[in-house]
Amino acid sequence: MRLNIVVLPGDGIGPEVTGAALDILEAVSRSEGIELQHRDYPFGGAAIDACGQPLPEETLRACLASDGVLLGAVGGPGYDEAAKRGAPRPEQGLLGLRREMNLFANLRPSRLYPGLEAASPLREEVVAGTDILIVRELTGGLYFGEREEGTVSALDRLPYSAEEVERVARAAVQAAKGRSGKLVSVDKANVLATSRLWRMVVDRVAAEEGMEVEHILVDAMAMYLVSEPSRFDVVLTENLFGDILSDQASAVAGSVGLAPSASLSDPGRPGLFEPIHGSAPDIAGQGIANPIGAILSAALLLRYAIGAETAARKIEGAVEAALAAGLRTRDLGGRATTMEATKAVLQQL
Ligand code: NAD
Ligand code: IPM
Ligand code: MN
Repeated sequence: MRLNIVVLPGDGIGPEVTGAALDILEAVSRSEGIELQHRDYPFGGAAIDACGQPLPEETLRACLASDGVLLGAVGGPGYDEAAKRGAPRPEQGLLGLRREMNLFANLRPSRLYPGLEAASPLREEVVAGTDILIVRELTGGLYFGEREEGTVSALDRLPYSAEEVERVARAAVQAAKGRSGKLVSVDKANVLATSRLWRMVVDRVAAEEGMEVEHILVDAMAMYLVSEPSRFDVVLTENLFGDILSDQASAVAGSVGLAPSASLSDPGRPGLFEPIHGSAPDIAGQGIANPIGAILSAALLLRYAIGAETAARKIEGAVEAALAAGLRTRDLGGRATTMEATKAVLQQL
C-alpha cells in the first residue's frame, strides 16, 4: 500500500505536534508495509511570512493531489495584530483549504480514556463512559456567509441550503450506524430559520435511513455536555456550534490536546486530518505540547485515506496503552514533554 501525504505544520505548536505524529506514522507504516511519502508545504502564518498569503497556490495543488493532508495548527497573536493593518489572516488559509477541498463533514471524537478520569474537570461518576463523536458541518453557515467588516456596524450572514444539510446529515447517520446508533442533532430552531431548515432536512434523512434522531437546542446541549456527557454518542451540528461544542467536549474528556479530527469530502477525494486545538501561543516553542490529538489524527488519516484499519487501530491502541501506563503531559497534570509523550506512544506500538 502507498500513502502520499501533504504535511502542513503551520504555526505555534503546529510543527511540534505534526513532527510527533509523523514519527508515529513512519513507525506504523514500516511495520504495516505502507510506503509512506510525505512532504511539508507552507501554510497559515508560516506561508504569510514566506510568500505573503496563507494558502499558496502550490500548497493547495499538492493537497488536492494527495491521499490526505496532515495539519498542525495556524494563527497567533502576531498575525492578529498584522491583520488589523490589512494583512491576510492565517485562519483564512484554513477556511480556503476546507472550501477548496470541499471538506463538508468534520468528525471530532472525544472519548474519556481509561485512567484519565482525574484529568476531567467533571466528577468521575459524571464523566465515566463518555465517548462522543461530534459531526460538524464544515463548509457552510456563518463561516462562509457574506461578511462586511466595519467599525460602526458589521455583518456575518448565516446561509444553509437543504443540500448542504443533507450531505452532512448522511455522514452523521453513517457514523451512527457504525457506533451505538444514537443520533442527536443540535440547532437553535426556536430562533434561527437555518436551524428550522436543518431540523426538517435531518428528520427527512433520518427517516429515510431508519434512524431515530433526538433534537436538542444548542444552549441546552452546552449544559448537558457537562451535566451528563456520557449519554451522547453521535452529535450532528452546524459549523459554529460544532466548533464551540467540540472544544467543550474535548475538555470534558481531559484536554483539548487529546482531540483529533477528520475533515472529509465525497468518497475518493482527499481528506484533512488535524487536532482540534489551535497554535497554543502560550506554550509554543517550549516542547511541552500534548501531541496526542495530532497522533490520533494520523490514525484517522490511515483509516479514512487508505482504509488502513489495522494500522489506525495500532496507533489508537498504543495511545490508550501509553495513557493507561501513566503518560501525562502538562495539560493532563503531568510533566511529560512532547518528545517523551511521543516516545511513550512509540514504545507501545
Ligand atoms: P488553542 O487551542 O490554541 O489554545 C487554548 C488553550 O489550550 C491554551 O491554553 C493552550 O496552551 C492549550 N492547548 C491547546 N493545544 C494544546 C496541546 N496540544 N497541548 C497542551 N495544551 C494545549 O486556542 P486559542 O488560544 O483560542 O487560539 C490560538 C490560535 O490558534 C488562534 O490564532 C486561533 O485562531 C488558532 N486556532 C487554530 C486552529 C487550527 O488551526 N485548526 C484551531 C483553533 C485555534
Ligand atoms: C478549529 C478552529 C478554526 C475554526 C479556526 C482557526 C478558523 O477553531 O478548527 O476548530 O473555527 O474552525
Ligand atoms: Mn475551534
